[in-house]
Amino acid sequence: MEQRLSHRVSQIAPSATISVDTKTKAMIREGKDVVNMSVGEPDFNTPDAPSLAGIKAITNGNTRYTPAAGTLELRQAIARKLMVENGLSYQPEQIVVSAGAKHTLFNVLYTVCNPDDEVIVPAPYWTSYPEQVRLVGAVPVIVSSGEDTSYKLTPAQLEAAITPRTKAIILNSPNNPTGSVYSQSELTALGEVLAKHNIYIITDEIYERLVYGVRHFSLPQLVPSLMSRTCVVNGFSKAFAMTGWRLGYVATPLDVAKAITSMQSHSSGSPSTISQVAGVVALSSFQPEMVEEFRRRRDYLVERLSKMPGVSILVPEGAFYVFPNVSALFGKTYEGRTLENAASFCEWMLEDELVSAVPGDAFGAPANIRMSYATSYEDLVKAMDRMDRFVKRIK
Ligand SMILES: Cc1ncc(COP(=O)(O)O)c(C=O)c1O
Repeated sequence: MEQRLSHRVSQIAPSATISVDTKTKAMIREGKDVVNMSVGEPDFNTPDAPSLAGIKAITNGNTRYTPAAGTLELRQAIARKLMVENGLSYQPEQIVVSAGAKHTLFNVLYTVCNPDDEVIVPAPYWTSYPEQVRLVGAVPVIVSSGEDTSYKLTPAQLEAAITPRTKAIILNSPNNPTGSVYSQSELTALGEVLAKHNIYIITDEIYERLVYGVRHFSLPQLVPSLMSRTCVVNGFSKAFAMTGWRLGYVATPLDVAKAITSMQSHSSGSPSTISQVAGVVALSSFQPEMVEEFRRRRDYLVERLSKMPGVSILVPEGAFYVFPNVSALFGKTYEGRTLENAASFCEWMLEDELVSAVPGDAFGAPANIRMSYATSYEDLVKAMDRMDRFVKRIK
């Protein structure tokens, strides 16, 4: 056997966010008082109503396979949600439910991409997008944006990135890792470019509820002509604190939904029946207090970070991450060593000050680090005191 593993998996890097989280959790198990800001999951519990619905599904014996695309009841509830909250009209047949939005995104890419197709991935990006694109044999085309555009893709950049080989683009707003949210006019301008090019648009809207003082828009709501080639991806992990239930979905043109359904019927089969029952109830159990608390934490972090020497920060408008640029500190000295990059910054801050963050390289932005504020306010105060001490020792 020349090579044990397939070419597809051999070129994939493990998820950096999960690696940092694993190291952090190992340190916590050793008894170290680490503040974990590396993780992308709400620190809240799943609301009671969906939790109880899930328990009832088990005790009622509602534990068998469902249709591969998910139960009709859940797909109807999702179609209602898309209509009422996003102004998008979908039939339940156009919706496919999978084991989390990560699984959903993989299914969509697997279904629409051929080998060597190009998929535009604006950077900073969620760490799994380029790897998923590679896993399905396609080629990620990374288009980077910086602080000058609040880390958002511009219409000119988009136009320049589209080639005859472009098959799709992945848009993510509110964004992980930057927290940026595309405004109505920004999204419409991108939509006008996309209207001229026949490519798929995958919009990852998993953080749609977590916005602070701005509104979330879904692209086909603003440019309806794009409905026929847009795949709207969403999930239950962030808005309903249901990361472990593994439930996500996509709303797509009918032919794409049918193809994903048959592909899913042969790969994973239907998603968890118990989670689907809980999902129906979750859609009407949103807890706005969670958003208020995230906003309070964001405000606190922005205030503290903006006062730290060598750290620059934009005010994120959504999700639960801050994304400070620490590159002004690169080349300086910390404890006799030269600080070269964000990886060393995160490693040394974790080892010496017990604050865990993820280097921006994982998101295609090597000048930055990502810090999640899905952790208690008290811990954030501790983390900011420690980080302040850390950066002041970099000379
Ligand atoms: C932008 C983005 N999309 C999708 C996901 C996947 O969420 P899940 O698979 O838990 O539904 C995440 C999780 O971190 C995310 O940040």
